[in-house]
Amino acid sequence: MTVLGLARLVAKEDGPDEKALAESEALLPSEKLKASFEKEVPIRFSTSTQNKKQWDELKTFWNESTEKGIHPRTGKEVVRKVVVLKVPLGLQTPPPIPPENPMTVAKFQLGKRLYFDNVISSNNTVACATCHNPVRGFTDQSKVSTGIFEKQGGVSAPTVYNSGYSLLQFWDGRAATLEAQAQGPPQNPSEMFDGKGHPWFHLISRLRKSPSYVKDFEEVFGHGPTRDAVAKAIAAYERTVLTGDSIADRAEVAMRKRLEDADVPAKPVLMGMDVEVALKKAIADNEGDVLQAFGLKEDIKVSELAASIANGKALFLGKARCNGCHVGDSFTDSDFHNLGVGAKEGKLPTGDQFRFGAQPIGHKNPALVGATKTPTLRQLLNTAPYMHTGGDATLEAVVDFYDKGGNANPTLDIKMRDFEAEKLWLIATSLGEATKGPPPFVTEGGQPIIPLKLNLTPQEKKDLVLYLKALNGVQAEPVITGIKVN
Ligand code: HEC
Ligand code: HEC
Repeated sequence: MTVLGLARLVAKEDGPDEKALAESEALLPSEKLKASFEKEVPIRFSTSTQNKKQWDELKTFWNESTEKGIHPRTGKEVVRKVVVLKVPLGLQTPPPIPPENPMTVAKFQLGKRLYFDNVISSNNTVACATCHNPVRGFTDQSKVSTGIFEKQGGVSAPTVYNSGYSLLQFWDGRAATLEAQAQGPPQNPSEMFDGKGHPWFHLISRLRKSPSYVKDFEEVFGHGPTRDAVAKAIAAYERTVLTGDSIADRAEVAMRKRLEDADVPAKPVLMGMDVEVALKKAIADNEGDVLQAFGLKEDIKVSELAASIANGKALFLGKARCNGCHVGDSFTDSDFHNLGVGAKEGKLPTGDQFRFGAQPIGHKNPALVGATKTPTLRQLLNTAPYMHTGGDATLEAVVDFYDKGGNANPTLDIKMRDFEAEKLWLIATSLGEATKGPPPFVTEGGQPIIPLKLNLTPQEKKDLVLYLKALNGVQAEPVITGIKVN
């Protein structure tokens, strides 16, 4: 199968294009071209947990201010402009920033421009935003993506939201950073590359023909367009593509306040009344983004809805065991698991090895054959269809999939397996006794693989889905607006 991405560099390695590209990549910044330290506007992140006082005072996502800095060359103190991003509620840390790619406003703007520009594709038809479109939750809302010449890829496009927090990129984790990831699509014949010559040589040549791009790159990097600079600028933009501040996050705040105000200590367990506080405030403020899932315009009882959402959270952490993998601020362990998505009769749909296939030689773990990265759960209302196959159209379908324990296959994740049932089956078979139900999938070595059923009731399934919907957060204006997307 064709996995989209980094690996497919079809150009030859030693042609004239490659030599020219290699020479022009070794550019060093010119102090004359690069914006001076005084003029550079850094971007800082403010979070509700690390910098509560400042965070509380910030009214919007994007806030302009000034700060004092020490000039790295002269050692003199200078006052310069700064932009402080109000990191959405629920994200307790800023995304990590590599020291070689500091955030500035000019770099953000350049990265945003590149992200939305078809110029990245060989024939000027496809942009990053074509497949990761802000109005579609930074996905294309399709089973598989359509790239250059209407070519279809093999997997569903994940959201860029909060990808700055991921320890590895892609479903199989084959890119270590956003900078590395961003270099993949422009050279991928299913995404942005027409297969002629060296993709990066031609892309950089196109950018160098544009006086306004040359000017922007010079201001940010102190030299004209290079592959290194394109990757850095796009990654810097992506690190601002954050989502949080959902009903669930606000309900947590209401819960903490309730605990603080209480005379007798209470357990930190989310209750319907906490969710009700968050819902009522959002209704009063007419907040479409966070309420879109609940159809609150109709005559719905807010207290009942709130109780369902709170119960959904209890299930998520308890009976349904979702937090075995969907943990942390973005609801992902940044790890890889095989759920058997799309598997039939023990066979994975395409035979793709995913994480095992992407692990470097010397580090391959056979238990990770078919394992994919745990995705975030923070923008599900805008990112259907779900799973790497795009095979589940609704959240109800996803919950049904987990209710039956996923699909058996030789490397089904241990968190998805019913070891007790497997043991009983082995004992019964060795005694020649009949076992209940249809025979399980049995591996070559005779190991039965029995998925762990959750046995959720219809109401529990509904509550769990409502909780997933309550994780949908706010989309920040500066990262999504102002640019036309095809
Ligand atoms: C033709 C559609 C298409 C285009 C164009 C495209 N992508 Fe993607 N993107 C995908 C698909 C599909 C995946 C998943 C591929 C995989 O995991 O093998 C992906 C994965 C990613 C990821 C990893 C997210 C994660 O959670 O692992 C990021 C980040 C990303 N793309 C950013 C970009 C950027 C930046 C560009 C432009 C330089 C771009 N994409 C262009 C379809 C596309
Ligand atoms: C063993 C780890 C694990 C557990 C437990 C788990 N998930 Fe997942 N989840 C994943 C992985 C990995 C994927 C991606 C699977 C794929 O597409 O191959 C995923 C995908 C999803 C998706 C689709 C997201 C998208 O953008 O496509 C949703 C929704 C989801 N899980 C919700 C849940 C819920 C609800 C539960 C509890 C009932 C749960 N998960 C339990 C690891 C897990």
